[in-house]
Amino acid sequence: MTSFPLVDAPATGSAPVLEVAGLTVTFPGAGGRGEVVALRDVDLRVGRGEFVAVVGPSGCGKSTLLRVLAGLAPSGATVSARSVTRVGGSAWMPQRDGLLPWRRALPNALIGARIAGLDRTEALATARDLFDEFGLTGFERSWPHELSGGMRQRLALLRTCLPGWPVLLLDEPFGALDALTRRRMNAWLAGLDLTGHGGPGEVRRTVVLVTHDVDEALLLADRVLVLSERPGRVVLDLPVPPGEHDPARRTLLAALDRRDR
Ligand SMILES: Nc1ncnc2c1ncn2[C@@H]1O[C@H](COP(=O)(O)OP(=O)(O)OP(=O)(O)O)[C@@H](O)[C@H]1O
Ligand SMILES: [Mg+2]
Repeated sequence: MTSFPLVDAPATGSAPVLEVAGLTVTFPGAGGRGEVVALRDVDLRVGRGEFVAVVGPSGCGKSTLLRVLAGLAPSGATVSARSVTRVGGSAWMPQRDGLLPWRRALPNALIGARIAGLDRTEALATARDLFDEFGLTGFERSWPHELSGGMRQRLALLRTCLPGWPVLLLDEPFGALDALTRRRMNAWLAGLDLTGHGGPGEVRRTVVLVTHDVDEALLLADRVLVLSERPGRVVLDLPVPPGEHDPARRTLLAALDRRDR
């Protein structure tokens, strides 16, 4: 059950592109356990072109939050909020990669572009460039089950970024990658944020990234939100000014350590 005024607002000026106020999400009880309040009274504002990372303990509601931001009410859950506003289109990369097992890698990569109605030739050219950048060239005709976990994750990220939606909602996109590939993909994502793949004149993309990696959050994000243990609440909203990663890191780790909040 979903009860909130959902506004898909037109893009204007400097208004936030994503905003939730007083968001609470409750899953019904099942299998002998009572209901689970995943998120309680969460407020969040993300401005155009901002890169916001969300960190917090496992099970605190990060994926649930991202689903709501993507406009996908978690099935079976009761979702209530004073308001949820989303401006413009967004692409969501779920924590489980969501690749279609009956499609080979290249057609999987092109699904989002097809749904977005992009020109097929153009989408194919961009896909080929990205396969190269993501180290997936040669695997275009592979089935998802023939790819490693990290390759599947890169393919899922490629598919999410390809259509050029202005807002990217990424749920632990690098969790399965080795440290070196992870840093390479971090660098790619940081660069994408500035240039985009949607053609000339594109504005900087807005990104919400869920991650367990504090250094990744500090490297990429303009702001880091820390959620409490479940029910998730925002306990820290930390701006990360360039060149001030060390003090921000200390503050973040202290907030994550404080389990009693
Ligand atoms: N479809 C569902 N049905 C029932 N409970 C759910 C469902 N999805 C999530 N939950 C519950 O909501 C809570 C938050 O889950 P969520 O997946 O949002 O956490 P998370 O912060 O993303 O965790 P992780 O870091 O492990 O990915 C958990 O207690 C989980 O069991
Ligand atoms: Mg999750």
